[in-house]
Amino acid sequence: MNTTSALNTVGARPLQFPIPGNVYAETVVSVKHFTDRLFSFRITRPQSLRFRSGEFVMIGLPNAEKPVFRAYSIASPAWDDELEFFSIKVPDGPLTSELQKIEIGDTVIMRQKSTGTLVVDALTPAKRLFMISTGTGIAPFASLLRDPDTYEKFEQVVLTHTCRDNAELTYGQELIAELENDPLIGELTGGRVTLYNSTTRETSERMGRITALIGSGKFFTDLGIDKLNPKTDRIMICGSMHMLRDVKELAESLGFEEGSLHHPASFVVERAFVG
Ligand code: A2P
Repeated sequence: MNTTSALNTVGARPLQFPIPGNVYAETVVSVKHFTDRLFSFRITRPQSLRFRSGEFVMIGLPNAEKPVFRAYSIASPAWDDELEFFSIKVPDGPLTSELQKIEIGDTVIMRQKSTGTLVVDALTPAKRLFMISTGTGIAPFASLLRDPDTYEKFEQVVLTHTCRDNAELTYGQELIAELENDPLIGELTGGRVTLYNSTTRETSERMGRITALIGSGKFFTDLGIDKLNPKTDRIMICGSMHMLRDVKELAESLGFEEGSLHHPASFVVERAFVG
């Protein structure tokens, strides 16, 4: 095999374009489709990549001279030797129209820097951590929920996930079930993680936007917990733009203050990126 053919056959399918400089080229190791709008996949992890659980990276496909990159939260924890992502499928999306077709052995490219505000170090210590997500906004929480650091900092974790329909909730439900059954992390998380699901466009056991459920108080009666309090609680928010705006307003009205790595405080926000 000569060098040219080696370069041109990374993964199962031939590359149409060379890998741009300064990006990682990683191999798809698994793909799982949940609905016609959602799928997850795992790729090999570059040995030199360091990231904090909850951060995002820019990923793309080697299918153009100047490939399209989109921000994706890493859904796997910082200790994992693979990288997991949870993605929407946009039929004519510049990246996801192609990304949704990836198969085991294909190449995904990734810029080398990770960043983001949904990290435990951007929050000051407290008793309870509330992770509020819609749609693919659950991804950074899938990372944080599998990271022991989260449980060192917080006694209780409540993950809320609201989607249009029941099938879209499956990724999060499987995540929590796997967490409980994991021999290592399960011991740490046992009895400390609560999943709170709702749907907005299909009948389910619990319906409504999370903002409405919190606003009406149903959220607290359902869970049998005290109301949100900046003294004891921290909030992380990830989802669509409108949801972020509304939950941020709600948090601020209750006295929560937005934090960052430079200035840790009581809540942090990041939009769920659509590819
Ligand atoms: P809805 O169906 O009422 O729009 P999407 O798949 O479009 O990203 O939406 C994911 C979930 O986020 C849906 O259940 C959607 O509810 C909900 N959502 C959208 N906007 C808001 C908002 N401003 N506040 C709370 N939830 C929202």
